[in-house]
Amino acid sequence: MCGITGYVGTEDGIPIVQETLRNLEYRGYDSAGVAVNDGDVAVYKQAGQVEDLTVPATSAASCAIGHTRWSTHGEPTDDNAHPHTDCSGRIAVVHNGIIDNYDDLRAELSDRHTFTSDTDTEVVPHLLEEELTPDATLQEAFERVLERLEGSYALAATARGHEGIVGARQDSPLVVGHADGGHFLASDVPAFVEYTRDVTYLEDGDVVHLTDDDVSVFSDGRPVQRDRRTVEWDAQAAEKGGYDHYMLKEIHEQPQALRQALSGRIDELGGDVELDLSLPPEFVESVEEIQIVACGTSYHASLYAKELLERYADVRVTTSIASEYEFSGGRDPWSTLVVAVTQSGETADTLGALRRANAAGARTLAVTNTVGSTVTRETDETVYIRAGPEIGVAATKTFASQVVTLTLLSVWFGRRRGSLDSETAAEVLSGLQRVPGAVQQVLDQDARVRDVAREYADEEAFFFVGRDLGRPVALEGALKLKEISYDHAEGFAAGELKHGPLALVTPETAVIAVLTDGGAPEKTLKAVKEVDSRGASVLGVSSADDAEKYLDTMLSVPEVGVAEPVVANVYLQLFAYHVADLKDRAIDKPRNLAKSVTVE
Ligand code: AGP
Repeated sequence: MCGITGYVGTEDGIPIVQETLRNLEYRGYDSAGVAVNDGDVAVYKQAGQVEDLTVPATSAASCAIGHTRWSTHGEPTDDNAHPHTDCSGRIAVVHNGIIDNYDDLRAELSDRHTFTSDTDTEVVPHLLEEELTPDATLQEAFERVLERLEGSYALAATARGHEGIVGARQDSPLVVGHADGGHFLASDVPAFVEYTRDVTYLEDGDVVHLTDDDVSVFSDGRPVQRDRRTVEWDAQAAEKGGYDHYMLKEIHEQPQALRQALSGRIDELGGDVELDLSLPPEFVESVEEIQIVACGTSYHASLYAKELLERYADVRVTTSIASEYEFSGGRDPWSTLVVAVTQSGETADTLGALRRANAAGARTLAVTNTVGSTVTRETDETVYIRAGPEIGVAATKTFASQVVTLTLLSVWFGRRRGSLDSETAAEVLSGLQRVPGAVQQVLDQDARVRDVAREYADEEAFFFVGRDLGRPVALEGALKLKEISYDHAEGFAAGELKHGPLALVTPETAVIAVLTDGGAPEKTLKAVKEVDSRGASVLGVSSADDAEKYLDTMLSVPEVGVAEPVVANVYLQLFAYHVADLKDRAIDKPRNLAKSVTVE
């Protein structure tokens, strides 16, 4: 997720666009850039923070666009920073999202255009260069370019000899700000809320043309009116998108984050997955063991992945808490793949485990959220989860994105090892594609979950139980609750309750059960009956309506197959959030914890 911004008005554009970029820096910060248009176009961009950006202090240009980047394609370098230009430098473009068909477009353009970056975005200015003929307006040329693009995008562009800025929105937010003497365009309101609270939210498919005194919105080439409204947030609240905490904002970002994780990676017809991995085919076919190392939430995502890799890729998989990991010798290290799962890419325990695996001669792969992080420089291969920056210390959207990305990886391996047929793969992938919508259905129950949290908040202890794919989610649900509410919470394999923990169950204990497809609901229900008979309050997150008679409270999970537990987990995230909020905890920065634990 990146931040894009633009200004057209009567003031000098450079300082204003720089200020709007500083306001968007929470969205991404590995590179930044500005393009100004005073009749001609000049671009200033580089890797690093917004304040490191070297631009003239002032300019005669009252039209400018800007970008702060969280990389999804290409390392954070000066060349990969936005804005990107056409060959002549007369067109500048900034982009947030992923252009799924950029490979094909780049192949088509590369014989007549010079590309200077590794990004998907750069195809846009070169396409615009071809469409912006002398008789075409910038908006007409831009609309013809949009017809060639597949994927998600919020775009802004400006061009020499053309007035103002054009923008477009498809699956990535874009909002207009109406100020005295000018107009703003940005990914998010925080960019310009200090200048104006008078906004127009664009809709998917909209194209907008801004000048200093006009805003025109088009849909399917026809002028449309979009409502103007006044936002009530202050700048600090606006960074949280109107949510009280980053954690809640990030929980609600999951549908978009998951679409990014899936974008351009699923071949539905072929029942296959494309992950830009260059593991040798003979290695993929012969690998004897996959060892996954991770910590905390990432470890729980790894437990989920283990089940799916063993099921689809027919390979032995071990999962280790990174701080406990030693490369298990006796096997041919070269026939072992060690996978480091870490959203930050900087966790010292995970890097330590990875270095032990490298020293032993294993082949290594990183699954991470952070382009250019240390883990990407110390592994042979990297797969990105593309969740965008996660500010809250408690991992939320990155867990879901890790699980979905690791599910894609298990299908990728299964198809290349011949252990997963295309029909079964297509079924799994079809279920994955329904996950963002299913998660949105759960998010729509946020108010109901708050009421449930209010009922359970004063329980003395919380036991989360699940089986199969429900067990990692039970562990994750317990971690989420304990780390932000400071309540005693533990996750168990549901079958383990009767082997000891049941002794702790009293009428003051809350039991939260994961009862979904993929989570052996019938067997988990046995554990529910064990605790129900001891008077505990039982909350079930379930896709099985017949479970309701055994539960004090049921939260319904949409049916999406093996991904149901990860959808159920969104209820557990909301539950943890609201219990902690009702106790007025420091939710985004819980005591004693850090977002990235860079010490062993
Ligand atoms: C989970 O909510 C915590 N933030 C913590 O357990 C975290 O998952 C763990 O420290 C691993 O971080 P990483 O994914 O960046 O390696």
